[in-house]
Amino acid sequence: MKIYLDGKFVEKQDAKISVFDHGLLYGDGAFEGIRSYDSLIFKCEEHVDRLYETADAIELTIPLSKEEMTQKIADTLKENNLTDAYIRVIVTRGTGDLGLDPKKCQGKPSVIIIADKIVLYPQEFYSNGMEIITVKTRRNHPEALHPKLKTLNYLNNILAKIEAGKEGYIEAIMLDHEGYVAECTGDNIFLIKDGNMLTPNRGILLGITRNTVMGIAKEEGISTEERLIKLDEVYSADECFLTGTAAEIIPVVKVDGHVIGTGKPGEVTKKMITQFKEATAKAGVKY
Ligand SMILES: Cc1ncc(COP(=O)(O)O)c(C=O)c1O
Repeated sequence: MKIYLDGKFVEKQDAKISVFDHGLLYGDGAFEGIRSYDSLIFKCEEHVDRLYETADAIELTIPLSKEEMTQKIADTLKENNLTDAYIRVIVTRGTGDLGLDPKKCQGKPSVIIIADKIVLYPQEFYSNGMEIITVKTRRNHPEALHPKLKTLNYLNNILAKIEAGKEGYIEAIMLDHEGYVAECTGDNIFLIKDGNMLTPNRGILLGITRNTVMGIAKEEGISTEERLIKLDEVYSADECFLTGTAAEIIPVVKVDGHVIGTGKPGEVTKKMITQFKEATAKAGVKY
């Protein structure tokens, strides 16, 4: 496996960065998770834009233009002969002396691109639906570290994942600072109630899959609403599903022991899965 590291392709075992990199020392950096399907990079522009927005928000200058970044992503996929892959782009603050101040990093930020396969959830969850719980760990307060930023500081989500794991679950709902449903540890959440599609609009990562699904819903004439959602509304929803680049669309059939709808993946969910698959096959940056 060849990894893109600061302008060069290196073998996996040689893809190393300094222990003084502030990405490692402080989680100071930004990242993206992108997918390619049949040699098309899905929603590439949106992912690259979000990476640069996160970098901008943390005052990190990526040493490549957006066009160069897109080219490097494509080159990494070609270098590894991958037609269907998961791509991880990481930009760290770079190396510097100890101490939080990013000004200590004299060198340039490091750019790393990994292209690999990813399997997130067992296939059975896609066909039969997944059971999840709500965890106590709250999603970051937007005024502390905004959840819309995809920074290397993912401990908020990791703690929630650990909490869920201890209860025997692999995914969990995180509430926001006021107790409204925010999102799952690595996915956005959607509900279907009386034919309408609902999804939270606060304290979340503005998922690119979330956006794609809302676009599909609009095309299908399904009304979509982005608003604050209470946990009770999840329990009484007709359908529930999660979205994410890695997970794609995954049905949820039980939340905190409450059966959602019929306890099987719902019709709207199934339609979204089919349409999403079509969307991934149709468009993207060719490499
Ligand atoms: C916390 C969180 N929410 C939602 C998502 C889904 O976002 P996307 O569809 O852009 O992958 C992710 C994955 O990147 C995530 O980490």
